[in-house]
Parts: sequence; C-alpha cells; structure tokens
Amino acid sequence: MAAQMPSAGMARVHRLLKIGTSCQRRLRCKDTIAFSTCSVKCNASQGDSSDSPPSTGLASGSALLSRGRRPLSPLERISSLLAQEALSPEVLQLRERDHLDPEEDVNVRLSGTQGEESGATPEDDPESPRASDAAVVTSAWPPLAPGELLVAEHRRKGRVEFRKMFELQTGARLGSSWGVIPHDDVAGRPAGSFVKTSRGVSILVRRASLEDYVLYMRRGPAIAYPKDASAMLMMMDVTEGDCVLESGSGSGAMSLFLSRAVGCKGSVLSVEVREDHHKRSVLNYKRWRASWSVRRGEEWPDNVRFHTGDLCEASPLLAAHGFHAVALDLPYPQLVLPTVVPHLHPGAVCAVYLANITQVIDLLEGLRCLPLPLLCERIVEVPIRDWLVAPALQKDGRHCVRRDPTLGRDQGEEANAEETSKEEQPAFGSIPYLARPHPAQMSHTAFLVKLRKCVR
Ligand SMILES: C[S@@+](CC[C@H](N)C(=O)[O-])C[C@H]1O[C@@H](n2cnc3c(N)ncnc32)[C@H](O)[C@@H]1O
Repeated sequence: MAAQMPSAGMARVHRLLKIGTSCQRRLRCKDTIAFSTCSVKCNASQGDSSDSPPSTGLASGSALLSRGRRPLSPLERISSLLAQEALSPEVLQLRERDHLDPEEDVNVRLSGTQGEESGATPEDDPESPRASDAAVVTSAWPPLAPGELLVAEHRRKGRVEFRKMFELQTGARLGSSWGVIPHDDVAGRPAGSFVKTSRGVSILVRRASLEDYVLYMRRGPAIAYPKDASAMLMMMDVTEGDCVLESGSGSGAMSLFLSRAVGCKGSVLSVEVREDHHKRSVLNYKRWRASWSVRRGEEWPDNVRFHTGDLCEASPLLAAHGFHAVALDLPYPQLVLPTVVPHLHPGAVCAVYLANITQVIDLLEGLRCLPLPLLCERIVEVPIRDWLVAPALQKDGRHCVRRDPTLGRDQGEEANAEETSKEEQPAFGSIPYLARPHPAQMSHTAFLVKLRKCVR
C-alpha cells in the first residue's frame, strides 16, 4: 500500500518523520536543562546583567544533540521497510541524507524544522539559513541552544548601531530600538544567523567570544582589556600546564584568559582583597563555564582557585607554590612584590598592568629601593587602531569612479556615467576605497611592565 503512495506524498511522510525526530531531540534537551524564563535586561552600555549562572545540570543540550541517533520511531521503521525501487528519486535523496554523519544530520534537521515551523521556505527569505548551507557550515558546531551566551548585533553603513550580549532562554525576548526578537526564534539556528525583529530589521546573532564576554559581563572594578591581557600572556609566555599567580581578581577577566591559556593541566591562583570583587569574579567565571558546557558539550577547565585576602599577607597561602608566571593588576604592585617574588621560578616573568605612568614610576622607584632580584625588561603600551575601509560613495549614494588616465576626458566621463547606475555591481577594482583610522578609537588603557626574576 505504502509503495503506491505518490512520490510527493512520500516526501511529505519523510519530512514529517524528520520534524518528529528533531522535535523529540529538542524536547529532550529542554527536559535536561533547567531554564530561567526571566528576560535579560542588559544593553551594550550597562553590560550584561544576568548574574545567575544557569543550573549546573546543564549537561548540555549540545552534547545531547551530538550524540548518536535515537531508536527509530514506528513511522520511520515502516518507511525503512519500503523497497528501494518503490521510492521516488526525491525520497531516495532524503534517505541518502539520513546516512550523513549524525552531527551534520541533526543540524540539517533543525534548520529544516525552523523553516517549516514558520511556514516559509528558505528561498522565501534570502537571510534564512538554507538547509544545504547549514549542513556545510555548521557541521562542526551544534545549533544555538538555551543557556548559551550570544551577541546580537546590528550594523548600518559599516557602523555597529546595536550590540548586546544575552543568554538564550526559552520564552524570553530580546528588546531593542529596532524591535523585539523572541529567543525561541533564535534557538535551533546556526550561529551567525540573521534574525528579523518585530520591525523587520535583520539582526546578526552569534556566539559570544571570550573577548565579548569580558567586555559585556557585569563588572566590579575595571577589567584588564583583552588586547592588554593577550599581550601580558605573551610577555609571561604562559603555556598549557603552567601554574600562574594573579592578583587582584577584580571582575575576573584576566582570570578567564589565564584559565584558557594554562588549560586543564595548569592552574591559576587568583587573590583578591575585596570580598565583593572576589564574589563578582567567581560569578563571572562560573557563568562563562556554564555557558561553555552548553555550547561545546564539554567542561571549560575548572582550574582557577579564587582566594580572598591581601596579597601582601599571603605568604602562608603561597608557601606550597612555585609559579611559572605572575600577573599583577593592582594599584601598588611594589607593595606585594616582596611576598610574591620568592615564589616565582627563576627566569620567569611578572607582568604588571598599570593605568598611569606615575604608577609605573612608583613601581620602578620601589624596585630601586627593594633588594629584589627583578629586572625591568620592557614598559609597553598596546595600541590597536581601528581603521575605516569602505567603498567611497558620492552624496547621492552612487559609487565614486576611478579616473582612468589612459581614457580621453570626455570619453571617460561618458563611460563613468554609464558605469555607475545604482543597480549595477561595479567590477572588482573599479571602486576607490576610503581608508583612514576610524574616528571612534579606544583611548589609553594601560602600561604593561615586564619584570623578569633574575639570579644574581
Ligand atoms: C583593576 S582590578 C583587577 C581587574 C582584573 N585584572 C580583571 O581583569 O578583571 C584591581 C583589583 O585589585 C584588588 N587589590 C588591590 N590591592 C590588593 C591586594 N593587596 N591584594 C589583593 N587584591 C588587591 C582590588 O580590590 C581590585 O579588585
């Protein structure tokens, strides 16, 4: 009976089967994850505001998604009993897709389901992810899942007009001046998707990088900026497996960069004198780790030990340790050096982050007066200058045209007028570019001082 079913009907059965299995998978994820339904209130200027890390039962939607196939449903079993020759080419193609790598398969299914739920085919909307694209592009990473930290971004004329970090939560809504996006419209899509707001504006939704996270997470004190943190890691030559001392913990930004650098074989001891800053850094660290488990289906290394106390008085705490590197980001580093230096391995580096050059001078004065085996090797600032590089446009919105010196003046102008009609895509190389340092620059952040422990 089933063998006589018209091919369009069979294709529909297959699609229903696929929706059924992908929905089951998504429900399974939802069963496993404890969600909070409150919406996220943060915005770019305030920083992300939701502190409470997702429940630790996050044993990860992504892990579940990437596991092997579930047992066949009764409908799937019936379908698989049909003889090959009784199937239309359309259905055969669908069957072939079933033999894909399970992880890739899930991605195809989830993106497919998305389109079907909204009643729109991917071709209807040029910005909706096509199943075939998703199969190629997202095969390594699972679709976006509740519990993940994401960034929503809207650019116009190359400028970022809106950027917000938020935690994907079932039933929540992302609000902006450009309209609202229900989080449920985002869940299940590949990272890097454009999603339309209630006002029809396309917003890019991507996973938050560690750089995004530290910039948008809620802060206690000022953080070590990512550009400076990277330079400090390089200065200290921090490697997987290293044991590093850091102080103060502050908001926990540097702790996260150190945690990633030393990996699961290494460890970081982070000392903070203020109880409130200590709590903030621990919360920020836990939140990133929880989101990571959902994203990757594996644990971020649990390698940072946060300790409250004054580093000047931490000799008993440091007694059992030898450090491959020390990162100091506190106002008076010269006061803590006598406690720290005995625990730094000979030849290793202590990198100091200081906002003012007067603090650098006080540090050097301290080194001059203290009998410490430290050599100041470098004092640097890390400038990163954003540039604006874009096709040059005339006031009327048309592309400017390069003047070809080999053409006669009149002839050239005629040709130009024809070439620059708005609809036409000018050939490569025919558009002059505007290129200059971006007018909105990050100002000064810090001086980095490299001190090396030497043996005299
Ligand atoms: C600028 S914040 C550090 C920010 C941190 N590097 C980050 O990336 O989030 C400086 C921190 O040092 C702490 N601090 C100052 N003196 C300290 C000391 N003697 N021992 C431990 N922590 C100290 C302050 O309480 C403050 O939280």
